[in-house]
Order: sequence, then C-alpha cells, then structure tokens
Amino acid sequence: MTYKINSLEEYHQVYKQSVEKPEEFWKEQAETFEWIQPFSKVLNWDFEKPEVKWFEDGVLNITQNCLDRHVLTQGDQTAILWEPNDPNQKAQHYSYTQLLEAVCQCANGLKDRGIKKGDRVILYMPMVPALAVAVLACARIGAIHSVVFAGFSAQALCDRVDDAQASMIICSDVNHRGAKVIAVKEVVDRAMDLGCNSVETVLVYKNSTQEVNWSDDVDVWWHDIVEGQSKTCTAEPMNAEDMLFILYTSGSTGKPKGVVHTCGGYMVYTCYSFKNVFQYRPGDVYWCTADIGWITGHSYILYGPLLAGATTMMFEGVPSFPDAGRFWAICEKHKVNQFYTAPTAIRALMANGDAWPAKYDLSNLKVLGSVGEPINAEAWHWYDKHVGKGQAPIVDTWWQTETGGILISPLPGITDTKPTFASYPMPGVQAVLVDSDGNELTENNVEGLLCIKYPWPSMIRTTYGDHERCRNVYFSVFKGKYFTGDGARRDEDGRIRVIGRVDDVINVSGHRMGTAEVENAINEHPNVIESAVVGYPHAIKGQGIYAYIISAGMSLNEAFKKEIISTVVREIGPIAKPDKIQFVEGLPKTRSGKIMRRILRKIAAGDGENLGDISTLLNPEVVQSVKEGALV
Ligand code: WT7
Repeated sequence: MTYKINSLEEYHQVYKQSVEKPEEFWKEQAETFEWIQPFSKVLNWDFEKPEVKWFEDGVLNITQNCLDRHVLTQGDQTAILWEPNDPNQKAQHYSYTQLLEAVCQCANGLKDRGIKKGDRVILYMPMVPALAVAVLACARIGAIHSVVFAGFSAQALCDRVDDAQASMIICSDVNHRGAKVIAVKEVVDRAMDLGCNSVETVLVYKNSTQEVNWSDDVDVWWHDIVEGQSKTCTAEPMNAEDMLFILYTSGSTGKPKGVVHTCGGYMVYTCYSFKNVFQYRPGDVYWCTADIGWITGHSYILYGPLLAGATTMMFEGVPSFPDAGRFWAICEKHKVNQFYTAPTAIRALMANGDAWPAKYDLSNLKVLGSVGEPINAEAWHWYDKHVGKGQAPIVDTWWQTETGGILISPLPGITDTKPTFASYPMPGVQAVLVDSDGNELTENNVEGLLCIKYPWPSMIRTTYGDHERCRNVYFSVFKGKYFTGDGARRDEDGRIRVIGRVDDVINVSGHRMGTAEVENAINEHPNVIESAVVGYPHAIKGQGIYAYIISAGMSLNEAFKKEIISTVVREIGPIAKPDKIQFVEGLPKTRSGKIMRRILRKIAAGDGENLGDISTLLNPEVVQSVKEGALV
C-alpha cells in the first residue's frame, strides 16, 4: 500500500512503528497481494547463518500478482510501453491482457522445451518487450531467471551460464543500440564454444532480417515454439522462499557472484518501495532508463511497476541517439510523469548543454529519480533546474543488487530533499552506521560504515551455490548485521549521504566492478606480469578505471595498451575497459606482499603528494617512480 503520510513528522511516526513492530508492518504490506495459500508466519531469521525467511509458509506466483490480478480490473491499460531504438519506428503498447497472453504463450513454449520449476534460464537480450515476456514466463512456471546484461562478453556470459548450470539461454539474433547493430547470437555461439555444457536449448528471438549461424542441435527460433501456443498457462504455485531469480554482480574478490532473490519477500518489497518512492498514481507513465540486465531494471522496470499495476516504459536505445535530446524527446512524446535514471547519464547530458532539455515539454514530470552511484551537487542542481524546473522532487535512491529494492530515499511530497543525500531509510528498514569495530554510531553528524541490522523482505538470501561466500561477504564483517560495503555520513537531522564503497569495488558509470576482476582480465594478457586496478574520480563516469601494469619485455607503447584493452573487452566486456594505463616497474606492497591500493588510489586521483607514511612498505622506493609516471 502507498503511505498516506504527508509530513516529515508522520514519516518519523510510521518509521518508529515499523521498527517497533516490524512483523505487523510487513504483514500488513504482504496482505495486499494475492496468495495461493496465505502465510501464517511473517519472519524467521538468523544473521549468523545467515538464514532469512519471509512469509515462509505462503504460496504465491509473482506473475499472478503482476498480471492476472490487474487483468481483472484494468486489462486494457498499458502495462508496457515500448519505445524503440529507432525514433522513426512506432512505439508499442502492451496492455495487461496482452502481456499476460504473451507471457503464457512463452511459458508454454518453455515448458515444451522441457523447462520446469527450479531450472535456470539465462537471458541475454536487448531491451525489447520479448525480454520482459521471457523474464515473466520463467517466473510463471517457476524457472529461475538470470538476466545477463547484453554488453558482457562471451567469456563473462559463459562464466554465468556455468555457475548457474543453466539449461537454456534466451537471446536475440542482433541488438540495436544507437547506430550500432550488435551480433548477439554470435556472442552466444562463442560462449557455447567456451563451455556452457549444461545448456540444452538456445532460444533465439528474431530482431532483424539478418542471417545467423545455426546449429540444429541446440538452436530454436522463438517464433517457432512460442507463437501458436495457448494464451493461458496456470501460474506455478511457488513457496514464498523459492528462488525467483539469480543476478550476478561483482564483489571485491573473485568472479561475480549470483545474488539470489526469492518470490514472496521480493514481491512485497519491490511493490511497496515502487509505490512510495515514485508516488505513482493511476494513469501516470513511469520511465526507468536502466537495462533489465541490472537489478534496477528487474525491480523498477518490471516487477515493482507491474505489481503496482503501473504503465512502465521500456526503452531500447541509448541517451545519445539520434541526438542528446532523446531522453527529453521521449519524456515529451509519452508525457512521462516519473523519470528514473543514473547520475552518469545526467552528467553526460548536462555536458551537452542546457538547450537540449529546454527544447522539449517536460511539464508532466512529477518525480525525478537517481540511482546507482552518489550524485554530485552539480548534477543534482542541473537535474532539478533544467529537467524538473524546480517542480519535481529528486529521489536519490540508495540500494544494491543484494537489497533487491530501494532502502534509503526521500519520499516525494513527504520528506524533504537535500542535494547529494539519499536521506531517510524507508519505513521498515533499519539502517545504521557503525565504526570500524562495529559499534553503532547513534548520534547524528557522524560518518561510518553503512549496515542494516534487521531483515527486510527483498534482501539477498544466498549467493548461488556458495552460501559461505554470502556469509563472509555480508554477515561476518559485523556480527549480527548486514554490511553494505558502503561508507556514509548522517547529517544533523538524520539524513544519510552515501559516500561510496569502502572495499575494492568500483562504480563506473553506475556499473559495479571488482578491481580484482579487472586485474584478472588484464593478467590474461601473456605479457602482463602483474597489475593493480583502482578507481579515480571521473567527471562523467563517476569513477574511471586506472590500471597500473608491470609488463614483461613488451615495448610500452600504444599498441600494447590497445591489446590490454581488447583483452579486458574479451574477458568482461567494454564496460570494464581501463580509462588509463600506466606502466610501472613495481607496485607498492606491504611486508606481507599485499598491494597498497590506498597509495595507488591517491596517485591516480592526483593526490600523490599526500601519501602519509610509506616507510613501512616492503619497497618504498617504487613510490617515487609510480608518482612520476602518473597519468593525471
Ligand atoms: C552500489 C550498488 C541499486 C541499483 C544500482 C546499483 C552504489 C547505488 C546509490 C546512491 C550513492 C549508490 C553503492 C552501492 N549506489 N545507489 N543513490 N548513492 N551510492 O546496484 O550494482 O548492486 O551497486 O552502488 O556503492 O553499494 P549495484
């Protein structure tokens, strides 16, 4: 339900109740959904194990709540409004009825190919309605979807397929992004050559007239098995704690991990947070510009809005095509009311000048959202002034793949906004700051590490296939708390400003990357002996990728840099390309042989004069030469 609160004072009251009686609070939220079998228990939890169970004896199907429920009351209303990459192609409207029918047809097609409850299905698709249909079709039959952002390389795709032991990949023949046509099926073919032994079917959605290589053993056309299927399909009864999806995300060590979300809690929280953060009203057009390959797209293009019965827009293209006015042209064309994007996009559009948003009618915008990284004051003010015209509150929403939904955000019209502050925790979310020993900092005007000390329904349940990793990364750093990996400060009124990661995770254009992951990719180049990757402040991307490399006898020229970049593109994808590469003779290390990233971060940020005490290093002498060669 949407809160009928309209003042900060009332927010505090509701918040207090939600903390004092959390089970009652969430029970009330959960009861607004359709359950195939109602739950009798609200919560069971133990952060030591960790084990968290919400509504555990409840049985439901999330698609019944996203679709069937709304078909009864507003079947003709647009569920998905699709804006194609090519502005000359027509937008498409899928009503709730049409979407349900399409989902059922796809679900029946998947069943015909042997997909059943619990099977993993990888989706590697462009932002076309078929992607939404395929995600929901998996959920319809209880298959676990794992969407892989279509910008990842064949190797990265293969790693995820293998980790999930997926039995199917759903992809397109090609993707259209701006002026580019990307041969996606070819990437899948290469991934299949690299591994993917668990895959029995590659289901290909035809998105062009181009020919593709075909292997009759595994490849199947979408139109051959989906079209012509029955338009009804019984929703599989799912236990609230059955897995809904896996989404891979980067950590500070090793390969990306599969964050697991479950059916009941995720449903309750994404709907609750969507309604309250965006203050969606019937008839509004809501647009989140993310890709469904990231959690933002899962929770706030698909599930949250559809659960709330909203009209949610899906955009196939990019903000710069055909020109830097595209976002605003779309807002005008579809009379967008809520607009949700990332600071990196705002900064890039800001750099193109104020004239672009000024050309379009943006008067329908009521709420502006920001997500993915800290929004700097300049971008905040530009967004407010030139896009919102001072009339649309900015919700700076803090959350993570692991949290499933927005945990900290202003509530428009209810709580105030303050530039660069994500503000207050949502009612029901017990966010705290702790010092490095884990002591809770209860005062205001403090800086600390951001933790959550009580479960919320859409929290991570495990990392797929490796529960120990989940415990180590999130629950063992501070006893009894979920640790976010972020540092934050709280102002004198209790508003939270998230500063950024305190671990070896960097945030490049809102994309999360492990520095270790980028290093591993660079090290695949046969002439690289060792590398160290850090983030550095970047005017548009938020953070850029700075790589220090020790090479084995290659001439240190641009050609070698290009090879390193293509190695990274091959191993991970273009989003992980280093922005700067510095060849070094040595890397500063501790006596135990660990790379001192603190020093490298400072040098990359142009702050090499303030390194503090370096005398305890194993090799203090390398620091000077690293500083001298710095690319700042
Ligand atoms: C990390 C999570 C959540 C959807 C997109 C990113 C950073 C996210 C904010 C914000 C400051 C933010 C954090 C977080 N982050 N939103 N509003 N202000 N930082 O999801 O890829 O899982 O990354 O993004 O550092 O830990 P993700």
